[in-house]
Amino acid sequence: MSIPESHYLSPVWRDGLFKDRVVFVTGGAGTICSMQTRALVRLGANACIIGRSEGKTEEAARDIAKVRPGAKVIGIGGCDVRKMESLQAAADRCARELGSIDFVIAGAAGNFIVSLDGMSSNAFKSVMDIDVLGTFNTIKATIPHLLKSSSPRIIYVSATFHYTGMPLQAHVSAAKAAVDSLMASVALEYGPRGVQSNVISPGAIEETEGTARLVSLDETVLARYAAKIPSGRLGTVRDVADATVFLFSEAGTYINGQVIPVDGAAWRRQGAS
Ligand code: HXC
Repeated sequence: MSIPESHYLSPVWRDGLFKDRVVFVTGGAGTICSMQTRALVRLGANACIIGRSEGKTEEAARDIAKVRPGAKVIGIGGCDVRKMESLQAAADRCARELGSIDFVIAGAAGNFIVSLDGMSSNAFKSVMDIDVLGTFNTIKATIPHLLKSSSPRIIYVSATFHYTGMPLQAHVSAAKAAVDSLMASVALEYGPRGVQSNVISPGAIEETEGTARLVSLDETVLARYAAKIPSGRLGTVRDVADATVFLFSEAGTYINGQVIPVDGAAWRRQGAS
């Protein structure tokens, strides 16, 4: 089923905005990252998406490529961000086959809902490894290529849990706090060499796996949560894709080292009655 453009992109951006740009996306077959990629490709970029599942990643790449005639989208499955060698090989292949890496979206993440009582040391470590070590590896693998670009930019897909802490998400909260911190160090160390490094922190976004898991626990939870969001609704994949387009466009050039929640101010109400 084809996805209408209005689902992932507002009608305000200029065609060809990202012509000749190449984006490298970890977790690129996931709900949020595939829509971010789709928006960038629709506006002229070529893309390389990587993921652990071969079938899912390659199918997502084929689907994304359909949004623009002539688009080149490579899907590299079987690539685990915890393994530096496979990530490096993917980044090198992206630069070799598509000519450069200008933008990076560090989106690979692991998550499951579990209490601290039920969380083993290895369960905690698995999420820390995917989210934190995986993000570090993504930077290490792509930075040599980014430094050759005239417009090197990185977006990390984080969360808002860790601003307050979150029951059943202790592992993800800890991991995303570390991702935000890594983002800031990258901005400080590589900013002088032209690299822009920012976090986008989605709130509860319709359609995602995380939201579906919450609903599976309690189908009233989402409506109750949405009712408390100051902007009056859940987020959409388009909200996140539009923020991504803005940050990667010339309009976002001077925004660096920032955490940008795309959550309708929900985190400011977290815990509020
Ligand atoms: C308790 C669990 C568990 C669960 C796994 N574990 N699932 N513990 N409850 N539901 C434990 C296992 O028992 C094991 O510990 C340890 O975690 C590692 O499990 P593996 O299956 O061996 O790990 P691995 O194959 O590396 O898989 C990683 C994973 C998995 C994170 C556990 O869920 C995964 O592959 N996730 C990727 C897809 C995903 O989660 N996408 C959602 C991203 S959304 P023991 O002690 O038994 O060895 C997202 C959004 C966050 O991240 C923010 C939202 C706003």
